Amino acid sequence: MTTHPAAVSVRNVTKTYASGFTALQPVDLDIRSGEIFALLGPNGAGKTTLIGIICGIVNATTGVVLADGHDVVTDFRKARSKIGLVPQELTTDAFETVLATVTFSRGLFGKRADPAYVEKVLRDLSLWDRRNSRIMTLSGGMKRRVMIAKALSHEPRILFLDEPTAGVDVELRRDMWQMVRGLRASGVTIFLTTHYIEEAEEMADRIGVINGGRLLLVEDKAALMRKLGTSHLVVTVRQPLAEIPAALAKFDLALAAGGTELVYSYDAHADDNGLAALLHALNGSGLAVANLRTHDSSLEEIFVNLVHKSP
Ligand SMILES: Nc1ncnc2c1ncn2[C@@H]1O[C@H](COP(=O)(O)OP(=O)(O)O)[C@@H](O)[C@H]1O
Ligand SMILES: [Mg+2]
Repeated sequence: MTTHPAAVSVRNVTKTYASGFTALQPVDLDIRSGEIFALLGPNGAGKTTLIGIICGIVNATTGVVLADGHDVVTDFRKARSKIGLVPQELTTDAFETVLATVTFSRGLFGKRADPAYVEKVLRDLSLWDRRNSRIMTLSGGMKRRVMIAKALSHEPRILFLDEPTAGVDVELRRDMWQMVRGLRASGVTIFLTTHYIEEAEEMADRIGVINGGRLLLVEDKAALMRKLGTSHLVVTVRQPLAEIPAALAKFDLALAAGGTELVYSYDAHADDNGLAALLHALNGSGLAVANLRTHDSSLEEIFVNLVHKSP
């Protein structure tokens, strides 16, 4: 017995659909108990397929998944009882009230009625005041909250949110983020998928990047930013350049913006980032510099680079 088993453990999972299309190459992944894990990838990357397999809705072609230590195939009911799933598509019973649908959902998992727990969930999601409203009368944002309340109705340990903020407005996205953090604070492990880099950057403790069915990397967010992050110095010159001036040849520079920008990329954490030498050389080069600016590499660039390089 280990004291801190992974909340979810995925081993050698692949998926080839009946059409013959392979949506997942062998995936190995552990989700740590209590973390917010963001699976980041463009549309069609395989995110929903992986969530479906973990939640026991899609059959893996190969591999094993344990949720809270239970095999999601051979021990489906136990595994499923530990999992809450908020699917990508909103599916709710339009004519039911909020309270009824969440209470019913809990019953589906064979949990005894617990009005106090259901009330807490609805209050936490700011749904309590609307508990007697029919779902069809609610706004899209409120409907999403109802989906989350349903997913939490049976007190799962791990909550899956499949693209929770796709197509929602900025305000609702911020609310959603706050809500997710609150859930994590209450001890729920969170696995979310997103194609918004900003969302992964904002929310995640760890980030997995998936593209074309391949899990390209899984990394601590902070480490990812440090390891792959680079900074850039952009030098704007008054006259467009056809090539890098000889005086600057020893620096690793690139021309951009039709020759009006020289871009120097450097490791912001290096002891000697070469900036001092470059500025000195620039000064002696006779170039008419119009502007200097720096910017840090973002997760966006890291992501674009990765996805670009993968087949
Ligand atoms: N039932 C299916 N049959 C065949 N191909 C599918 C099926 N479901 C999904 N796919 C394909 O698998 C790939 C991954 O889909 P999906 O997991 O939904 O990606 P994501 O959620 O990252 O957008 C896509 O190319 C999609 O068209
Ligand atoms: Mg999807």
